[in-house]
Amino acid sequence: MMTTPHDHSGAGPSIILLHGFPFNRSMWREQIEFLRARGHRVVASDLRGLGENVAQTSVCDEPSSDHRLKSVPPATMEEMARDVAALMDELKIESAVICGLSMGCYVAFEFIHLFPSRVNALVLCGPRAQGPDETEKASREAQALRVLAEGMDFAVESISAKLLAQHTLNEKPDVVSRVTEMVLNTDPRGAAAAQRGMAVRRDYSDDLTSISVPTLIIAGREDGVRTPEDAEFIQHGIKGSQLVVIDDAGHLMNMEQTEAFNHTLLDFLTCNQL
Ligand code: MLT
Repeated sequence: MMTTPHDHSGAGPSIILLHGFPFNRSMWREQIEFLRARGHRVVASDLRGLGENVAQTSVCDEPSSDHRLKSVPPATMEEMARDVAALMDELKIESAVICGLSMGCYVAFEFIHLFPSRVNALVLCGPRAQGPDETEKASREAQALRVLAEGMDFAVESISAKLLAQHTLNEKPDVVSRVTEMVLNTDPRGAAAAQRGMAVRRDYSDDLTSISVPTLIIAGREDGVRTPEDAEFIQHGIKGSQLVVIDDAGHLMNMEQTEAFNHTLLDFLTCNQL
């Protein structure tokens, strides 16, 4: 079996970082360095079909373009969670803090559902628990077909405008260009597979009350795709969970407000002796 592409550094209690869509593990660059320097073992992997993890996406070379567009199967949140568990096995990590951002949170919800004893704590950044309705499913399929037909270019502008806070767009060109680069480097087949996987994800709302590990929820105040209500819904569902809202940050709050994000995360880890 092929190893999932990942970064792995440091020694100490383990934390696994799960990226959002359509991004890759490089979005955690500043967290990897920060946590490693503070005595943590940090693992960030590319989720199935994304980043350098394209080998796990089934590709059909059928000449008929109609068949080619339809032939990319979903990369499900469950498969992604099982990939994370397999990587932990390989790295001999029995349990860890699982930290996801957005799509990474869907994977984290699946992971704790499948492997509850392997989760020491959860960090949910820009999360949503509810499952997709028919409108969302149709929109994800339309996006999947469009990236397969046209590639990722068309998505760049709308992704930056929707996901990043105004402050980031105005003042942080380096963040904007890193986001652009991640989107453009995404394999369209992997993006389509992930869209189709998110379209068939479960509704995690009913799972919330059974989560008993320490949980931190982090929201960007200007997140254009996750409302504060999404975060509050999860906070009310998970007993004892803590919600922190970061100012001047959108959906990619760890890249947009790195210092505030890192210290929020470190405070949580320290207070819970993780
Ligand atoms: C993400 O950032 O991972 C996406 O916004 C997730 C989604 O499309 O639901």
